[in-house]
Amino acid sequence: MQEKSNCVVIGVSGGIAAYKALDIISALRKKQIEVNVIMTESATRFVSPLSFQSLSQNMVTVDMFEEPKAWEIQHISLAKKADILLVAPATANIIGKVANGIADDMLSTTIMATKAKVVFAPAMNTNMYENPIVQENIAKLKKYGYEFIEPASGRLACGDEGRGKLADTKYIADKIESMLYEPKDLEGKRVLVTAGPTIAKLDPVRYITNRSTGKMGYAVAEEARDRGAEVILISGPTSLKDPFGIQLIRVDTNEEMLKAVLSNYEDVDIVIKTAAVADYKPKIYSKEKIKKHDEDLMLEFLRDNDILKILGEKKKHQVLVGFAAESHSLLENAEKKLNNKNLDYIVANNIIHTGFASEDNKVSIICKNGDIIDLEPMLKKQVAKNLFDIINKRR
Ligand SMILES: Cc1cc2nc3c(=O)[nH]c(=O)nc-3n(C[C@H](O)[C@H](O)[C@H](O)COP(=O)(O)O)c2cc1C
Repeated sequence: MQEKSNCVVIGVSGGIAAYKALDIISALRKKQIEVNVIMTESATRFVSPLSFQSLSQNMVTVDMFEEPKAWEIQHISLAKKADILLVAPATANIIGKVANGIADDMLSTTIMATKAKVVFAPAMNTNMYENPIVQENIAKLKKYGYEFIEPASGRLACGDEGRGKLADTKYIADKIESMLYEPKDLEGKRVLVTAGPTIAKLDPVRYITNRSTGKMGYAVAEEARDRGAEVILISGPTSLKDPFGIQLIRVDTNEEMLKAVLSNYEDVDIVIKTAAVADYKPKIYSKEKIKKHDEDLMLEFLRDNDILKILGEKKKHQVLVGFAAESHSLLENAEKKLNNKNLDYIVANNIIHTGFASEDNKVSIICKNGDIIDLEPMLKKQVAKNLFDIINKRR
């Protein structure tokens, strides 16, 4: 298993978006990353330190001169402890202070004292953000190696429209998680992942689909990204947010997914097909909405493309991994699929126990040589980690 550094210090400065730092902390805690919070005095005017203390499950530091709770100088110990120091939201003020070497409170002093990577996620009114002095400070900090998660555009809390909104909190948490990862053992590799369901259209308003949510595939794509791969994610319709740093191609039908996969197949090293692609499509697509009648409606279905099989037949240098969601004879059916479709690995999960829509999964990974690795029930991201550990070890 790869080593993961584990402590993020979050500096919360005094902007209207201070409450959103709570979401970032909760997302990082869910990823089992330790979080310590430093708040500026201004930040405490927006949100109580108690909220940050409760979510981070650590004491929150505000006052540099407060009686120490342990025999250590707090700003130095946090500066040393941090693997990453994230300032979110970052006010114009904290950016300006750090850019000019000012260390007059706990947060600015810790930033000055740390050797960890410091990442600013600015949030402020558009006019403030576009102020040339703020822009000059940002440019200066970038020159010294400080990183920035750029703010988004949209409607700001003050009612103005424009640039300056704190970047999406899930995006920030994911980016921080990916920065923590070492080693980057998929660097230089291109990974293609398919995810979610596909739909088979009956008429302009109706379609047939399945219960896949895409969570497993998105977790696989994010894990590959975190290990340094260039990732293409081909996704059927899902309600999941676009993951950062991943090329996302959205498709609806089996046909569209096949086309998107084939147009990228030659150039990738690893293909992981988690998508629950429709096996059948209606024989007739009605251009007009099918009218309701008193009689029953009988529909005929045709076999649709078997994308995994097509990929198995065309396979050259690629490592090809399939997923098998089965409700009975799990290993037997999965092994059959592995051999029939010329796969290198198959991840088998029993959908009666876990699978669709849940955060975790219980799977067995079957290798081409017949080895079977049974994994305990675990988060889908952990399943993805185990899968890449196995692929990397045996490649
Ligand atoms: C209601 C309110 C909202 C504010 N929102 C922001 C903001 O979003 N971004 C910002 O840079 N400053 C904002 N400010 C100004 C900062 O609070 C002010 O510059 C303060 O000195 C920042 O201190 P700090 O950087 O030590 O937290 C806001 C002030 C008030 C009163």
